Amino acid sequence: MKCVERLGALDIYVLQGDTDLVSRVSRCFDRVDVNVIAIDDLTIAPAPAASRAAVAVISMGAVGSSAAMLRECQRASVMPVIWVGECEPQAEHARGADLYVLPPAFTCAALRGMVAKRAAQAHTHMHESGAPRAGPFIAHSECMRALLREVDMFADCDANVLIRGETGVGKERVAKLLHTKHSRRSQGAFVAVNCGAIPDGLFESHFFGHAKGAFTGAVSAHEGYFERADQGTLFLDEIGDLPLHQQVKLLRVLEDGAVTRVGSAVPMSVNLRVLAATNKDLPRLVATGAFRADLYYRLAVVEMYVPSLQERGAAEKIGIFRSVIGSVFGEEWLASLPDVPSWLTDAIAKMRFPGNVRELRNLAERIGVTVRQMRYWDPERLQSLLAHVQQTQAALSLGANDHPRWDMADRTRVLDALATNGWRRQDTAQYLGISRKVLWEKMRKYQISDTERVRA
Ligand SMILES: Nc1ncnc2c1ncn2[C@@H]1O[C@H](COP(=O)(O)OP(=O)(O)O)[C@@H](O)[C@H]1O
Ligand SMILES: [Mg+2]
Repeated sequence: MKCVERLGALDIYVLQGDTDLVSRVSRCFDRVDVNVIAIDDLTIAPAPAASRAAVAVISMGAVGSSAAMLRECQRASVMPVIWVGECEPQAEHARGADLYVLPPAFTCAALRGMVAKRAAQAHTHMHESGAPRAGPFIAHSECMRALLREVDMFADCDANVLIRGETGVGKERVAKLLHTKHSRRSQGAFVAVNCGAIPDGLFESHFFGHAKGAFTGAVSAHEGYFERADQGTLFLDEIGDLPLHQQVKLLRVLEDGAVTRVGSAVPMSVNLRVLAATNKDLPRLVATGAFRADLYYRLAVVEMYVPSLQERGAAEKIGIFRSVIGSVFGEEWLASLPDVPSWLTDAIAKMRFPGNVRELRNLAERIGVTVRQMRYWDPERLQSLLAHVQQTQAALSLGANDHPRWDMADRTRVLDALATNGWRRQDTAQYLGISRKVLWEKMRKYQISDTERVRA
């Protein structure tokens, strides 16, 4: 298990045929950052993101067991493959060479060992260009160039900055730019904290640190975020998710410029610049009382807005696409290929990316993995990848936009009333004290039809 752990995030795609391979593989990996994903067809399996290692585990029964066939499938796959099955004698001698084969009665230890080996190979493959993973900061569009001018203008001062923008637009990247361009603070630390993920009981010890023996388990003294960011920058991500009672504690430190470790009586002064980011409408949260006005004013001395990818336009999408492929897989490799075909750039330009740059980067990495494997811009494969991504986007946006807007309690109330009144609309409406028209609208909105009656 140790070698698998060292790999970090891992996707295992399983084509099981008529076996129970998916559940057997799942049982061998119980870490949260390992996804086991069932697929029906190796060639349409989504090309994985370069930030995650990926391996396919395939039941030979699903494709046949001749060595030639296995090799053919392996070539078509966008990721390394491990075969499960009894292979024919001619495939047998290929074990350990280019085919990796596990017997049907494999043990978890054997599977994990092989996955680790194959995933490590795939990983080095992807990162051999040695380019920094984040790549350069890309700004082609006029609105992004304007943003960079603002960054230059405000980088070398100590004013707190609130960075607004949708998720994945690059707010953290902007915060890092502000930090690195600050002549003095860039010598200090950039400490990034996700404010939506701090368990209540741990807020103080995380932010303020604690003295040795301050509470059970505090075996040694511990520096909090404020101290770590002293002389540098504290980046408070998702600040809109910080609960009110934690906002008070944060505000106090920002006002006093001093922190006291839990279990200590000695305040320490800290000198830091706070950059905060949010995808929420903070002024609206202030208006509704969910965010403290005094904290808002302290954080938003300067406000910056990072435009969504859609606002930046097609040229920016294509620029980011090319640059990601170049920085992840190597500019030289990109230059050795024929030009990115126009059908591909057109398709990318037309796509909407609700997840913004993060999502486009992911897609570019997946396309890069495919092209690297195929050694050309394979239209069939890439179009099916794009179609897959669009389907997922559509499914996600359905999930994001429709269902959460349902008031589930109201839906249940309507269903119960219908059942109580034998599904007679007039009686149900009367029972609920609403008109038939309102009842009909509710049923349409909640997608309640007489089929529910059968299910109920
Ligand atoms: N202008 C940019 N140029 C290149 N990569 C970017 C740019 N903006 C964002 N990214 C990349 O997109 C991903 C999301 O960026 P991040 O700063 O984490 O977004 P946010 O904080 O707004 O959710 C990261 O992988 C980041 O490196
Ligand atoms: Mg972020």
